Amino acid sequence: MFCPSNSRWALSCCCLVVAWAAEDAVAPLKALETLTAFEFEEKVLQVVNGSESQKVVPIVMFHQPWCEHCRNAIPELDQAAVSIAEGKYAMLPALKFYLFSCAEAGGKEICDLHCGTSFPSIMVFRDGRAIKYNRPRVANVFAWWIYRVTRPAVMELSEKTDWDGVQQRGLAFLLRVPAKHSKVETELILGNWQQLALDSLDKLDFFVAFEGKELADSIGGPVPSVHVGGPASYQLEPTAFEALEDEEVMKEWVQINQFEPVIALNPYNWGDVVSTELAAITLLHANDEEAAAALKAFQLKARELRTGRKYLFASLNVSDEESRMLISKKLPLFTPALLQGPQMFVFQEGIDGKLVYWEDPKFNRVLDLSILEVESLMASEEAKQDQSWECWAKHIRKASVRLGSHSPRSLAVAVAVPALVLYLMVKSSMALVGALFPAALQDANSKKSK
Ligand SMILES: *[C@@H]1O[C@H](CO)[C@@H](O)[C@H](O)[C@H]1NC(C)=O
Ligand SMILES: *[C@@H]1O[C@H](CO)[C@@H](O)[C@H](O)[C@H]1NC(C)=O
Repeated sequence: MFCPSNSRWALSCCCLVVAWAAEDAVAPLKALETLTAFEFEEKVLQVVNGSESQKVVPIVMFHQPWCEHCRNAIPELDQAAVSIAEGKYAMLPALKFYLFSCAEAGGKEICDLHCGTSFPSIMVFRDGRAIKYNRPRVANVFAWWIYRVTRPAVMELSEKTDWDGVQQRGLAFLLRVPAKHSKVETELILGNWQQLALDSLDKLDFFVAFEGKELADSIGGPVPSVHVGGPASYQLEPTAFEALEDEEVMKEWVQINQFEPVIALNPYNWGDVVSTELAAITLLHANDEEAAAALKAFQLKARELRTGRKYLFASLNVSDEESRMLISKKLPLFTPALLQGPQMFVFQEGIDGKLVYWEDPKFNRVLDLSILEVESLMASEEAKQDQSWECWAKHIRKASVRLGSHSPRSLAVAVAVPALVLYLMVKSSMALVGALFPAALQDANSKKSK
């Protein structure tokens, strides 16, 4: 059912209808337990943030009785809970599955704090943190993800063959430490490693090897040390690294070294790149000789500059169909029609999930690329493009200037389409405001005329 989310009145009306229609459609739950606002404190917050080590991991689905996605997701999560309980996944701690209605007395405050207004929200509470689910809400994906985020964050490996095995399966990070647990620095480094592992439980795998065991000794060299491995096709080239006691530096090292020196961007790895929240310096290129030379120079630059651990380096091939899809969806200013030879830009996704990119046609001299130049580009208001109104206007201005000498058809695409979208968006939002709040609009108009 369609709920117009902009209107509170329409929403509650909609919801009443949905709630009424859903009344007897709910099948009995097998593994999910309902939780009241009163119990939330005791069974979730105290458990995850209690002083002693956590013995039970609560998994909570926050829902609203009117929300249709919630109603579809509940039996799926219930099914996942049953399959986990049936032992499909070994090695897990004790899990508790709860259903929490934000419409209960006292529920709103709790939901505002933990999930805002996104329903349903499924969260795993462990080690002082709440880990949010953002994948398709179907039973087998739920079960797989819950297994990922509730397993031990760091696992010990002692044999060399174990390490070879995990690297063949995918990306893996390994910390080598002295066997003596009593050493303060070792404890600190292990603690940092644990926090890093918790930060990326559903993406990366973290291991530890102690000196004196076969694996740590076979790698050799001074301890402590960190290593990254994966299948040969990942083309990893880990950068050198010493400052192991510094948690921030360790985190940067992990983020940079999970990728090859220059990431060939496509719709599949885009999400992994933006989720690091690091800025990515990107070379946009076609498939000709000039591009091949630029790409080669860019790879050399990337190897040199990535040791600073502040930036990722990526390439985007405009001759590739899938890359073009990515461009038109995320980076509309780079329509191939506008590209004149290889060009660089920087992009980054903020904590709010909004993409920002910085571009300037003059930012194209790969051989001279320096961090200073990148910093000045990112400081420039003119270069910055985000999803704000001002940036739409800037986009249209930039695109028309750059396309002045191009074919009328590409000009139409690059300028007219965003302009039309802008026009329609303004028009429809005004119409909506007018329909919902005629009084407010009149009020505003009368103020203006004064
Ligand atoms: C646990 O406590 C810390 C510190 O007070 C807080 O930052 C964190 O959000 C809490 N965790 C949860 C899941 O409420
Ligand atoms: C760019 O994409 C085209 C088409 O997919 C491909 O043939 C070409 O090898 C790619 N070039 C580079 C440098 O990756």
